Amino acid sequence: MKVIQTVADFRLVQREYPRSLGLVPTMGYLHEGHLSLVRRCREDNATAVASIFVNPTQFGPSEDLSTYPRDMEGDLAKLEAEGVDLVFAPDVSEMYQEGFDTTIDVGDIARRLEGEHRPGHFQGVATVVCKLLTIVRPDNVYFGQKDAQQCLVIKRLNADLDLGAEVIVLPTVRDPDGLAMSSRNAYLSDGDHEAALSLYRSLRLAESLYSEGVRDGDAMRREMLALLESEPSATVEYVSIADAVTLVELKSLDRPSLISMAVRIGRVRLIDNVVLGA
Ligand code: PAF
Repeated sequence: MKVIQTVADFRLVQREYPRSLGLVPTMGYLHEGHLSLVRRCREDNATAVASIFVNPTQFGPSEDLSTYPRDMEGDLAKLEAEGVDLVFAPDVSEMYQEGFDTTIDVGDIARRLEGEHRPGHFQGVATVVCKLLTIVRPDNVYFGQKDAQQCLVIKRLNADLDLGAEVIVLPTVRDPDGLAMSSRNAYLSDGDHEAALSLYRSLRLAESLYSEGVRDGDAMRREMLALLESEPSATVEYVSIADAVTLVELKSLDRPSLISMAVRIGRVRLIDNVVLGA
């Protein structure tokens, strides 16, 4: 496995590797969710690439950039064990050179939900993913459904700017108790972990209401909120019941619907989602 830190080196080295080439973009601190993407990337492609880059432009000023968990050595060992061929792990100064002054602004789909609560977040994501796709030029690129809106934003970006990758979205990987895997789970104390299960429970509740025939979006949201708000350390940012393609809020779940939420457990902000009626 080769670890490459500069754009110029990546461009040179990448030519020696056979196609198809798959990329798993990550911010490191890898868990089973990332590794499920890496395994699929390995299976699908002659060359498997992962990137590790904690992208400062997708963090807001009051967010957790400085404390974001990192473990480069552990990450490289995991990627090596999965048979990854190339790792692109640039420094911030390599990705954002002196004078850097371009931002990619995806429209409507990026303004909703996370976009509303984390201003600038998707501009940062879209800009760095555009750069990664341009540098690595993958045939296939892999993302997790846990970041459902990110997947939609990246599909829009990839289509609109003709970046030429196949965007492959794989299911959310959960702990045995249901908590969606996330690098940010590292911040959770044992008590917080228990409280964080309320996200999963509220999604299960939505699933069971749906299977009982409930289609009223407001009624479903109310029940989910009641469950979440009964957890003393949970602060709900939003619970959304939206069209799974456009993210427009739905009165009635009469089409594939993305049920998603952002909840703070203490100071840790968690998101999770499920698609109903697909
Ligand atoms: O999902 C992530 O880890 C990041 O948002 C991504 C796609 C690697 C861009 O920095």
